Amino acid sequence: MVKAMRIHAHGGPEVLQWEDIDLPPPGPGEARLRHTAIALNFSDINIRRGGFYQKDPLPMPLIPGNEAAGVVESVGPGVTEVKPGDRVGYVGVGAGFFAKNGSYAEERNVPAARLVHLPKDVSDIEAAAVMLKGLTSSNIVNRIYRPERGDHVLIHAAASGVGLILTQWCKHFGAIVIGTVGNAEKARIAREHGADHTILYRQVDFVPEVKKIIPGGVRAVLDGVGKDTFEKSMDCAAPFGTLVNYGNASGHVPPIDIMQLSLKGTLSMWRPGVSHFLGDPARFKLLCSELFDLVEKGVLKNIAARTYALKDARQAHIDAERAEHAGPVVLLP
Ligand SMILES: NC(=O)c1ccc[n+]([C@@H]2O[C@H](COP(=O)([O-])OP(=O)(O)OC[C@H]3O[C@@H](n4cnc5c(N)ncnc54)[C@H](OP(=O)(O)O)[C@@H]3O)[C@@H](O)[C@H]2O)c1
Repeated sequence: MVKAMRIHAHGGPEVLQWEDIDLPPPGPGEARLRHTAIALNFSDINIRRGGFYQKDPLPMPLIPGNEAAGVVESVGPGVTEVKPGDRVGYVGVGAGFFAKNGSYAEERNVPAARLVHLPKDVSDIEAAAVMLKGLTSSNIVNRIYRPERGDHVLIHAAASGVGLILTQWCKHFGAIVIGTVGNAEKARIAREHGADHTILYRQVDFVPEVKKIIPGGVRAVLDGVGKDTFEKSMDCAAPFGTLVNYGNASGHVPPIDIMQLSLKGTLSMWRPGVSHFLGDPARFKLLCSELFDLVEKGVLKNIAARTYALKDARQAHIDAERAEHAGPVVLLP
């Protein structure tokens, strides 16, 4: 028996229940992991709420969560990649990202091929804080839009989990970062992580504020907020600029008339999903090692991870939905 947070039906944070579950021994190709640090991702909230991405109903009861760090307890037949005692992490378990959840548990069986060894200088909390959010950022800056020195980049919710990493990564390439943020404390945190300008976008219209800073518009908009920000962001972009909507914290972006991209300046638009970027286990490990290298070199630093006990995941979800925290959130079993 191990403890896990489970849901038996979609709904608000109250559907999260702290329960005993049976965990069978690891099967062929699987490792049993004792979780030490579990990421809270906004996708966990979407899974809990239901009806966000998945067309078919998810099987219930369901343990949310897609990302964690931990220690290998035992391995099933045929496992060569890891051994008991290894410190490892994972993001997803190979199936579609929203299909196979299960991280909000003290222990879990995970396909060993999907595990990555954690470097000794990266703590379990740092790993859980940075893997998915860092790989999401990597997908953007390495595959979609690579900032050039002096580019102005607008990052919405710059003090969010992904936002703080994107801010640091864009600064690393020499960009000038304009970050929108929900309050003054988040503005301070975003600036501490490298943002050159911050805009309190709940208090003022961010479009004229951006134009005051860079009248010709920004080279790129990186947007995890979605519904409340994406359409207006077109008015912030320079001709031939890039719009990236990577998340929908405020809700889905409404359908957009493609002609707007021409009228607003021959813009390009992306809607990335991290699963396609992670690829096979070998590629995932390579991407993680590049990411951990940036953490070890201090390029991605002070990733302010707020922690909650796993059994308090309900409160963590409440706070995330109220946009109360800055930076990543990690649940501790
Ligand atoms: N495409 C991908 O592959 C991928 C991968 C990872 C994450 N994501 C998505 O990226 C988005 C951000 O993830 P994250 O980990 O950075 O989330 P997070 O740390 O929880 O931050 C979300 C932020 O969005 C802002 N926000 C605006 N409207 C909101 C609302 N109605 N409810 C809650 N927050 C709202 C808040 O910042 P302010 O207070 O500053 O407004 C909040 O802190 C999520 O939608 C997530 O699903 C996508």
